[in-house]
Parts: sequence; structure tokens; C-alpha cells
Amino acid sequence: MSDSKASLRREPAKALDPAEFIKANMRLAPVPALPEVRLYLAHPGSGLRRLLEPDDDSDETRPEPQPPYWAYAWAGGAVLARYVLDRPSIVAGKRVLDLGAGSGLVGIAAARAGARAVIAAEVDRNGIVALGLNAQANGVAIQIFEGDVTDGPPPAVELVLAGDVFYAQDVGQRMMPFLDRCLAAGIDVLVGDPGRAWLPRSRLCLLGEYQVPDVGGNGGGEPKPSAVFALVAEPG
Ligand SMILES: C[S@@+](CC[C@H](N)C(=O)[O-])C[C@H]1O[C@@H](n2cnc3c(N)ncnc32)[C@H](O)[C@@H]1O
Repeated sequence: MSDSKASLRREPAKALDPAEFIKANMRLAPVPALPEVRLYLAHPGSGLRRLLEPDDDSDETRPEPQPPYWAYAWAGGAVLARYVLDRPSIVAGKRVLDLGAGSGLVGIAAARAGARAVIAAEVDRNGIVALGLNAQANGVAIQIFEGDVTDGPPPAVELVLAGDVFYAQDVGQRMMPFLDRCLAAGIDVLVGDPGRAWLPRSRLCLLGEYQVPDVGGNGGGEPKPSAVFALVAEPG
């Protein structure tokens, strides 16, 4: 083959290493309303879309990456993290599941507040990398639950912290049966949420309210009222 033909041959697109990408393109900064926690947060120049583009060697059996929810501190997670940091006795000495962990901010707050062990459940493969980097940046240990925790029985924990997991109907519909199994197993469930559409309001008991920034802007949008609730069992 001539040199000119060889140079026209298309090189296979190389898969980006998510950890390298995150460290190079995101900003490690304190979370607004949670100065105790630092996260790799997206900024306008992050170009996160590049992480979502499939590479030529991509394994078609792997789930498609989702929008990069993990690149932001969501109001529901921020309010729950603030609540736990302000009341460490809620988590101290307990095994805790951070459900829908995203960046891992709730689990990191629980670990900083004295949880005995923190398991993070997250289905996005880039999110799992991000929360590992975030845990490391905050000097805490977080175990990752492999797979979709909502498919099975509750893990061995005493408390579930669910930060902003009612943002979409299908997600909420997966979460609720799992959370009900947690309650039935004697596991407490706390929910942090700014009032999203699919919040199961009739099943919640208000514990506290804060103003926290929601996603948007440079790592933090406008503050909005957000709340922490205890999930209560269905009557009867
Ligand atoms: C709105 S984000 C909230 C992230 C974080 N808790 C916070 O408050 O910043 C919801 C997260 O739940 C994750 N998620 C959705 N379904 C899930 C499931 N079945 N198991 C674990 N995580 C899930 C999404 O990938 C996403 O990262």
C-alpha cells in the first residue's frame, strides 16, 4: 500500500479513560453549601459530551452511559449531605447505603460524619469512576455496589440515604419497591429532594429544610428550598 493510502486509513477512535478525563477536564472544588466536601465538578469548558461518545471498540453488551448526572451536586443530595454533616449521630457507627450516588457527595458526607462503612450504588460507569475519585479526594473509603442494587434484596446496612433519586418516573418506579424492601428489613431510609415531580409525597415525613444550590452554572445554580424526609411504610 502506498504511503498516501496508508495515511488515509482511519485510525480507530480510542476510548477515553474516564479517570484521566475527569482529572483533566473537571474542577476539584468545594461544593456550595457543603464546604467540607470537595468534588470534581463540571464547568462550561468540561466538554463532558466527549465521554458519552462510543469508541470503535465499545462492547455493545455494556449499558450506554447516561447523561453525566455524577458531574454535579444535585439539590437532593446536597440537602441530605448537609443534614448528615450537621447531625453526625444519624450515621455514626452505621453501615450506610448511598443510593443513586452520582458524585458520591452523600456517601462522602456520611463517611466524614462517622459512618462505619459506606456503600455507593450507582449504575453509570463514568459515575462510578467519578465517585471513586471524589472519595479519594476527600480521604474517605467508599465501597461500590456492582450492578443495579434495586434488582435484589437490601444489602447489609442500617441506613439508606437517597439523594435526588425521584427526578424521573422510571427511576422512581425502580427505587420504591427496593426502598420498601429496605423498610421491611428494618433499614431506615432518608430521602433528600427539592420537590421533584416523582417524589412519593404521601410516604414521606419531613425532618428538615435547607436552601441549597441545585445543578447548573459553575458547580452550583440558584439556591432553592430542599428537604430531608424519612420514608415511612405504607399503612396497612
Ligand atoms: C439526580 S442524580 C443524584 C446524584 C447524587 N445523589 C446527588 O444528589 O448529587 C441520580 C443518580 O441516580 C443514579 N441512578 C439511577 N438509577 C439507579 C439505580 N437503579 N441504582 C443506582 N443508581 C441509580 C443515576 O445514574 C444518577 O447518578
